[in-house]
Amino acid sequence: MRRKLVAANWKMHGSRDANRALLAAVAASLPGSCDVVVFPPFPYLAELIAAHAGIGFGGQDVSAHAAGAYTGEVAASMLRDIGCGYVLVGHSERRQYHHEDDALICAKLERALEQGITPILCVGETLDQRRQGVTEAIITAQLHAPLQALGERIARIAIAYEPVWAIGTGHTASAAQAQAAHAFIRSQLAARDAKLSRMIRVLYGGSVKAANASDLFAQPDIDGGLVGGASLVAEEFLAICAAAR
Ligand code: 13P
Repeated sequence: MRRKLVAANWKMHGSRDANRALLAAVAASLPGSCDVVVFPPFPYLAELIAAHAGIGFGGQDVSAHAAGAYTGEVAASMLRDIGCGYVLVGHSERRQYHHEDDALICAKLERALEQGITPILCVGETLDQRRQGVTEAIITAQLHAPLQALGERIARIAIAYEPVWAIGTGHTASAAQAQAAHAFIRSQLAARDAKLSRMIRVLYGGSVKAANASDLFAQPDIDGGLVGGASLVAEEFLAICAAAR
C-alpha cells in the first residue's frame, strides 16, 4: 500500500513573514494521515526546516552540477545539508521558461539521488498536445530518458503528473482523466518492472483544491497531490491533506 504524499509547491510566492505564518498555521493542524512536503522559495528553506521538525521539505529546483563555479545554482549536497529530503525536477515551468531538456533533467535526477534526496519528476502535456490526442506519447517521451538513465534507481523517485493546461488555470483534470494518465504512467513503469511500478508514488498536480481532492485521491493510481495555488492558503491546504488517507 502506497502512503499518500501531499506536496506544497509555493513557487515564487510570499515573504519571510508571510511564509513563516503560513507554515506555522499548516504545521499546527496537520492531520498525520499522509506524508506532507513543502517546497518554499530557496531563501526561506533553512529557517523553515529548523522551525518545523516532522514536516518534509524540498527544493523547487537543483543544479545539474555537483559543485563549482555555477553562479546562482544550488547543489543537491546543499539541499541535503540543510535537511531537504525532496526536490522537484522537470516542472513544466522550468521546462517552458528555462528550456530544461531531457539531458538536463536526467542530470538533476542523478545529482539528487547521489545525495539521497527523493526527486519528484514532473511530466504532463500542454492543452494543444491533449487536443491533438498525443498525451500518452508526450508522457512516454518525458519518461523515456529518466527510465533509461536511472534503471533500477527509478524506484527511488516519485512522479507528478501535471497537465500543463490544468496548472494555475482552475481547470482541474477530471478524476477519470487524471486516473487514466496515472494508470498509463504506471503501465510505463510496469513495462520495466511490475514490482517497481507498484512502489512508486504518482502524484497529481494542476488546480488541486479542497473541493476536488477527495475525488482525485480516491482513484487507485493517484497517490497524492502536488499543490500550487491552494497550498498558499493554510485552511485549503489542510483540507487537501485531510482528504489524503
Ligand atoms: P496549481 O495548483 O496552482 O495549479 O499549480 C500546480 C503546480 O504547478 C504544482 O507544482
